[in-house]
Amino acid sequence: MEEIKVKKTGIIKLQSIKDGFDGVLSIAECGRQIPFDVKRTYYIYNLINHRDVIRGKHAHKSLKQVIFCINGSFVLSLDDGTNKQEIVMDDPTVGVYLGPELWHTMTNFKNNCIMLVLASDWYNESDYIRDYEEFLQYIKR
Ligand code: TYD
Repeated sequence: MEEIKVKKTGIIKLQSIKDGFDGVLSIAECGRQIPFDVKRTYYIYNLINHRDVIRGKHAHKSLKQVIFCINGSFVLSLDDGTNKQEIVMDDPTVGVYLGPELWHTMTNFKNNCIMLVLASDWYNESDYIRDYEEFLQYIKR
């Protein structure tokens, strides 16, 4: 995976135990690979490979998350307000930390993509910034 230039993010590599024909076991532990206590897990699936299909398009004020692609692939676009970067997510053993105040978008879903997200808090719509201009203003404050 390429080097990350964007701030408020980072690559998280999981330990995997390969068991030949019996598959692979990948492990994420809070306080070890995951830099927060997980209070919520959600997963996104049944995604269609179409150029109009897009998820994310928001930032969070304080939520911390780690996103994985546990099947198929997608492109994760990150924007800290200054630097932008696209990361191809196609390895179930590699997660990306999404810190607060980081604009993120997911596109190019392929091969029955399944995203798994570990989050530091319960769902709270007031923690979302869904407008890009508002995001730029928020991080300047
Ligand atoms: P959203 O976070 O915008 O999805 P994505 O970033 O993947 O595009 O959430 C989509 C909808 O689901 C929105 O109406 C909020 C709701 N939602 C919950 O109710 N609880 C949750 O934990 C999440 C992640 C979303």
